[in-house]
Amino acid sequence: MTIPPDPKRVLIFDTTLRDGEQSPGISLNTAEKLEIAQQLSRLGVDVIEAGFPITSRGDFEAVQEIARNVEGPIVTGLARTHAEDIDAAYQAVRDAERPRIHTFVSTSDIHITHQLQTTREDVEGQARAAVAHARGYLDDVEFSPMDATRADVEFTARVCRIAIEEGATTVNIPDTVGYTMPHEYAAYLRRLYELVPELRDVVLSVHCHDDLGLAVANSFAGVLAGARQVECAVNGIGERAGNASLEEIAMLLHTRQPDVGLHTGIVTTEIARTSRLVSRLTGYPVQPNKAVVGRNAFAHESGIHQDGVLKERTTYEIMDARTVGLEANAIVLGKHSGRHALQQALEDLGFPVSGQALNQAFRRFKEIADRKKQVTAMDLEALVTDELRDDLGAYSLEWFDVEASSRRPPHATVGITTPDGEERTGSFTGDGPVDAIFRAINAAAEADARLREFRVDAVTGGQDALGEVSVVTETGGWTASGQGVSTDILEAAGRAYVRALSTARRRARLDAERAEAQLAQAP
Ligand code: KIV
Ligand code: ZN
Repeated sequence: MTIPPDPKRVLIFDTTLRDGEQSPGISLNTAEKLEIAQQLSRLGVDVIEAGFPITSRGDFEAVQEIARNVEGPIVTGLARTHAEDIDAAYQAVRDAERPRIHTFVSTSDIHITHQLQTTREDVEGQARAAVAHARGYLDDVEFSPMDATRADVEFTARVCRIAIEEGATTVNIPDTVGYTMPHEYAAYLRRLYELVPELRDVVLSVHCHDDLGLAVANSFAGVLAGARQVECAVNGIGERAGNASLEEIAMLLHTRQPDVGLHTGIVTTEIARTSRLVSRLTGYPVQPNKAVVGRNAFAHESGIHQDGVLKERTTYEIMDARTVGLEANAIVLGKHSGRHALQQALEDLGFPVSGQALNQAFRRFKEIADRKKQVTAMDLEALVTDELRDDLGAYSLEWFDVEASSRRPPHATVGITTPDGEERTGSFTGDGPVDAIFRAINAAAEADARLREFRVDAVTGGQDALGEVSVVTETGGWTASGQGVSTDILEAAGRAYVRALSTARRRARLDAERAEAQLAQAP
């Protein structure tokens, strides 16, 4: 059973790797997903939804890797009510310390009529069969009536009762399209409790999307109405406008704990680092004014505020930046530090590296330490995450030359390695040096990607800070994101761009696999 013994404890179900990965332009490889899952475990989440195993071999393998290697949280995989989905989810999570299957079917008439093209009776039957099938494998089964907030509450209640009769241990009520309002959602959950008193014997969960900017408020209303699991994603990423943001809900419950009386198992000091890792690996920058983790979340601009904070922090701050791990940026290494010191520093940061990976990290560290006097924890974190992205089967930037002048258009030549290991060069004259590099990469890769977004950030403060470039490209209607880090902005830009090309390629392959999987299951 997954019911927490403490009635005041709210379980955090993280869906960064499943719903979060459904954001446009994101496509994580298995190593990246594993890295995020290890960090989620350090963050103290209770459940990791690692993916949707039936959808592709890549999704399946990533869920299986996480199930086999990540200790602590429950690991779950998503499944429709089809027996093949549940079989795949079980095979993917079965090796976890604590495996869970999460199955779902829509209960709204709009979905039943137009998408599923079936009847309410059939949905009841699907829910019954799916939960029973999943319980045949595991004791921990979650059921979600999708689009519940736009569904008839009495019908949703009937389906939830069936799921509980068949042994579901968690019942999750999704606001799939981000339509509900806090008071309405709370009333819906209270009505469900009235109609299905058995809901008190299982964990009631909330899953809210942010289409109207209400995901966290709705989740909170759900918790106040009795839910004890919140489904959320780091930095609020997810389908369309995203899911409820993990850091916001965790810090809300933490900061207002004396008034609300509920708590989570989140290690708040790991929040900032988790947010940075997810942002780098997904290529989704965090908006500067984002609550809790935005660059400006603890910045004070007006003179009156600055004066107040200097006199007493609490005059204008309801949270201490240190509580979310934002000021843990000690200087760890300098240019004379050796391989062993680097290995130790990386281990302290939660990146155990050895062998070839250590050599590679050391080479990058030396390049950076030569140009930058002091290498901080945040620099190392950026560097290691950047290295992690260079996987096999991806494009990599080997070298580049740029000629820039105010009198002639800039010209770039690049050398890249293709996913098949082929070395190629490309040249182009662009509107600016960055544009020239991107077009030269397109020429070398024979790609027709177009730049949609370009952004430069500094990893830390100071003139010698590492630069971090994020790009979003579009190829044939598909968006893909990439990020690169270097002391040289042009190099960071080139790295970001080849990663976006790799993401686009991986997405195209996954989409083809997913389409094939769907065809295979068509009745
Ligand atoms: O938004 C949603 O309804 C979902 C379900 C699969 C839980 O993501
Ligand atoms: Zn969702």
